[in-house]
Amino acid sequence: MQCIAFSATAPLSVHRPAASLRRLRPVSAIAAPPKPLRYQSTHSLPPEKIEMFKSLESWASQTILPYLKPVEKSWQPNEFLPDPAGPGDEFYHEVRALRERAAGLPDAYYVALVGDMVTEDALPTYQTMVNTLDGVRDETGASPSPWATWTRAWTAEENRHGDLLRTYLYLSGRVDMTMVEKTVQYLIGAGMDPGTENNPYLGFIYTSFQERATFVSHGNTARLAKDGGDAVLARICGTIAADEKRHENAYSKIVEKLLELDPDGAMVAIADMMRKKITMPAYLMTDGRDPNLFEHFSSVTQSLGVYTAHDYADILEFLIGRWNLEALEAGLSGEGRAAQEYVCGLPPRIRKLQDRADERAKKLGPRPVKFSWIFDREVLV
Ligand SMILES: [Fe+2]
Ligand SMILES: [Fe+2]
Repeated sequence: MQCIAFSATAPLSVHRPAASLRRLRPVSAIAAPPKPLRYQSTHSLPPEKIEMFKSLESWASQTILPYLKPVEKSWQPNEFLPDPAGPGDEFYHEVRALRERAAGLPDAYYVALVGDMVTEDALPTYQTMVNTLDGVRDETGASPSPWATWTRAWTAEENRHGDLLRTYLYLSGRVDMTMVEKTVQYLIGAGMDPGTENNPYLGFIYTSFQERATFVSHGNTARLAKDGGDAVLARICGTIAADEKRHENAYSKIVEKLLELDPDGAMVAIADMMRKKITMPAYLMTDGRDPNLFEHFSSVTQSLGVYTAHDYADILEFLIGRWNLEALEAGLSGEGRAAQEYVCGLPPRIRKLQDRADERAKKLGPRPVKFSWIFDREVLV
């Protein structure tokens, strides 16, 4: 991304060790320095508000669980892939056709697709993150609470996304799978740092935003695959995008309910998350070589139009509309009104800053960035 100030996928700052430290560090011990953690506050929601989630259990059963799809009605990755049990040489023909289609898409596209796949594959981190949230976590691992039921089934639905993209990429032959797999291992080991403070208000605002961001991103990789002549990959990305949309609807329904029950608390929480900026879950990614891999991946998604700072502003604007934040009046304190004003005024500010950054980037011209994922070939960003 050219401007990282307001991008959903960008950090606030990039950690660079002092020159003396860089000289001292053994070359091969830790190839990529860890990024500084931004948010380590915990348990910021008062007990009475945590109790509210307990009282919302029957509402969650009736309103949120129906957003899940039964397993028997769900798609499975195998349906989109060459059938290894097909008759005769069918599997080999299908793999060859897949690889012929895959050859028609540029390297930059594969960088974006790998980044999306790696993000999906770090799913253990996301289930952990949701289970950090007070009042809604899965207390036993098989809790019958509707919040826990949702989180497990949501994870099970999401699990198919990484599986499908990973197998597709493997068969395509276009990417260095070992480097991709290393990136996944590094990322799961690093975790995520979304600033949600065990607070389900903050957590569900984050997931509402994030599910929409992935809907937009997979929708755009679908469009680009179609334009590049790969209708099967387009269907794969489009199918994943449809899941993300359904998940977004569920999470934003929860925030809608919080706005109804506690407009002030919910409004202040939305402003809190927006001040922190919603960072993509894969923000801590590295391949062990490029400590700025995430920023470089983000630059590619920005230049391809897979996910841009303008999308970030669009998502915020969409959620402001969906949650009817501009019209919110009753129950707002002075702090709540200030939060409302801040959030509702944010999209045009983000756009203006991004326009300026785009102009600056245009003057500088494209620069080449090397990605281990595509065998150290360069992509212009
Ligand atoms: Fe997903
Ligand atoms: Fe998702």
